[in-house]
Amino acid sequence: MTMADHACTGKCPVIAHRKPYYAELRAGRSYLWCSCGRSQRQPFCDGRSHEGTGFLPVRYTAQADGEEVLFCGCKHTSTAPFCDGAHSNLPGGYSDATDGADVPRPDLVSADATGVSRVDGRCFAVSPEHGADLSLRYALRTIVGPSLGAEHQSQFHLRLEDGETPILAAEGVDTILWIMAGNGTIAIGDRSFAVTAPCGAYVRAGEAFRLAAGTPLRAYVSACPAVEALIELAEMPAAFDAAWPDRVVSIDEEERTAMGPRWFQMLVDKRIGSTTAAQFIGHIPRSRAEMHRHLYEEALIIMSGEGIIWNETSAARVGPGDVIFFPRKHLHSLECIAPEGMDVVGLIHPGDNPGVNY
Ligand code: FES
Repeated sequence: MTMADHACTGKCPVIAHRKPYYAELRAGRSYLWCSCGRSQRQPFCDGRSHEGTGFLPVRYTAQADGEEVLFCGCKHTSTAPFCDGAHSNLPGGYSDATDGADVPRPDLVSADATGVSRVDGRCFAVSPEHGADLSLRYALRTIVGPSLGAEHQSQFHLRLEDGETPILAAEGVDTILWIMAGNGTIAIGDRSFAVTAPCGAYVRAGEAFRLAAGTPLRAYVSACPAVEALIELAEMPAAFDAAWPDRVVSIDEEERTAMGPRWFQMLVDKRIGSTTAAQFIGHIPRSRAEMHRHLYEEALIIMSGEGIIWNETSAARVGPGDVIFFPRKHLHSLECIAPEGMDVVGLIHPGDNPGVNY
């Protein structure tokens, strides 16, 4: 069941809270999550309030000390006991900050000489082509990575005017590409796939890739977990994991999932072999979401539209081509100020559902 068509099939549980509950767990300890929504000690069962409702608690045993989870508060999740974002599509479940609170916007920060606007903590926005030497046939710039404060993902901006890139690899980790402009081919091991913007592409750990331009290419190349740099290889390794033969994903309106007035479509994810990182495209109408956090690290590429990233004490303007980096558990909001809305492509790691926040 998608969030868009989420509905109770029998008796509805009570909505205890329209957001998930964050919790840090203890290894080996069992937790009884309340599924009926009536417990007086949410999000856990109180041992009696479910009597006669037909609902029973759901047990979860923690795998590790300090395991961080988001227990479902609305009780309409399809991934019990954890939040799947279903609360956003319940009546009154999604609210933009502009619906109510009129909070003054923090001061806007300016970009530095490299095109980076640093806001709170390790959060920043970057214009990848700021100051670029556009006479170069091929260029690769690190825009997200450990040296810039990321812990779980890297991202590189790739520009190829014609010909081919070197043979590239993110040593030992998965690579997820977003082809922003142009067309051509991507060779992965001994296979070759056509790519036409906009589309995503997936290269598994242990494989290498090379892009060839039909028309000038602009691509964003993510590596998960994070690496400091892509390495260049002298020869293309033959390795291609044939267990996962589909490697290019395109936009498909039929695949959209609603999230209140917004929508997203999963692109590269577990369906084609990426089990710990996920790529998606999303649309944000003119609005500002409530301030929120994620348990995943996120990099957002602005496809179209103008916006402002809000943090607690600073904000920055963003526009097409820019990338915003959000650390895990960082309080933020992205405001769209374009009448036609914004389209963004996101890369989350570790995680598989961009609809889950708290
Ligand atoms: S009180 Fe809700 S499941 Fe027990």
